[in-house]
Amino acid sequence: MRLGFIGAGFISTFHATALTMVRDVEVTAVLRRSRSPQFVEHCASVGVGTPVEYDSIAEVVRNCDVVAIYNPNFLRIETMNEIVDAVEAGAALTGVVIEKPLGRTMKEARTLVDLAKRAKLKTAYFENQIFMKAIAAQRDQLKPSINAMGAPSLVRSAEEHGGPHANWFWDPVQLGGGVLMDMGCHSIAVGQHLLTPPDKPMSFLKPVSVSCDTSLLKWGESPWREQLLKERGIDYGKTPAEDFATGIITYRNPDTGAIVKSQFTDSWMFEKQGLRLMMDGMGPGYAFEVNTLRSPAEIFIGDAAAESLADAELALEKSTATRGLLPVQANEADLYGYVDENRDMVERFSRGEDAMLNWEYGLEITRLLMAAYCSAEQGKVIDLTDPQIDEILENYVPAIQKGEGNSVLRRGAKN
Ligand SMILES: NC(=O)c1ccc[n+]([C@@H]2O[C@H](COP(=O)([O-])OP(=O)(O)OC[C@H]3O[C@@H](n4cnc5c(N)ncnc54)[C@H](O)[C@@H]3O)[C@@H](O)[C@H]2O)c1
Repeated sequence: MRLGFIGAGFISTFHATALTMVRDVEVTAVLRRSRSPQFVEHCASVGVGTPVEYDSIAEVVRNCDVVAIYNPNFLRIETMNEIVDAVEAGAALTGVVIEKPLGRTMKEARTLVDLAKRAKLKTAYFENQIFMKAIAAQRDQLKPSINAMGAPSLVRSAEEHGGPHANWFWDPVQLGGGVLMDMGCHSIAVGQHLLTPPDKPMSFLKPVSVSCDTSLLKWGESPWREQLLKERGIDYGKTPAEDFATGIITYRNPDTGAIVKSQFTDSWMFEKQGLRLMMDGMGPGYAFEVNTLRSPAEIFIGDAAAESLADAELALEKSTATRGLLPVQANEADLYGYVDENRDMVERFSRGEDAMLNWEYGLEITRLLMAAYCSAEQGKVIDLTDPQIDEILENYVPAIQKGEGNSVLRRGAKN
């Protein structure tokens, strides 16, 4: 499979590394941007191809079988329009991959689904946490217990770090919100997956209600607000985004009628060594727990050695410390599920199928995300069984995404 990249930044580099562990795929094309030369160099050095840099999306599409959209969230629709134009002009593209979130709103996500259908493209919505080997292994090991005792009734999932690496992530309009948009989609998706009985489809559980709280606990306060303005050019005094979000999604098992719950927690104000993904859950008589900050490898760097520090992010994504006792993860691309989601995509697209998670699935995750923002904004539980709610969510744009976050995040504050 010849794979083309639109985007040559952080996640593109991670995916290129992941592709070293996937067969029958080569990176052949990338859209030219300021960082694309480094991306080409990275692909060549890890041995996944030497992509040619092209000046237009149409040229990328003409020089690959499958194209991956790995540029910022606010470019989704114009990027997909150009892809579809190229296909309608004769490019023999067969599939399209997109990183989370599918869209910043239901309207955007639905437009993307419709565009892919119009161009008859197979789709992959990349939600890596569902593909984490630790998640798959615990489900396999617990399968007999789940089959005997019943599926998990409570799952908690969290993704937390100290804040994103590029300016556009901090801008609530460009990103589409704050940490709930950025990482809540992961925690919501993996929570639903972990509650789903093995052998049932992704859409098996019926969402009943969503409650959520969004807050600005660190980056709206001095001196962090000033630091953000100085370093990122984003003013959280005027247009804030949430740096902490938590909520509960209630689902109904349609076979048994049982109610099950998934609690999600996401933050950009996490004060530990770096990124932590944490999931735990329980059913009758059994439980599981995953924590990516635990590693069999760790290093210690004392003050005396601190002058010769390596790039801390080589040891762990979003590392916030360069000395002390630090975990080292030897294969992060695999740990976080990037390898297996790429493998699933390559294998299924090659068979002429959608990936395990297609864009319709991404649309459903967008619906739950929108319900979460709506709940936090209105301060109430959103009843997803109410027939009117779908119409509301279909046209809903969160206040934080509109740049009006103070109305939600500073409610009840003194000044
Ligand atoms: N699954 C995950 O864990 C994960 C992790 C990080 C990012 N992502 C997703 O991947 C996508 C890209 O994120 P990233 O971290 O690689 O971002 P990034 O800022 O590191 O890279 C963005 C890329 O898009 C290009 N670009 C094109 N037009 C741009 C513009 N107007 N402004 C800024 N960049 C522009 C940049 O040159 C760069 O190559 C996002 O949708 C994000 O949600 C997913």
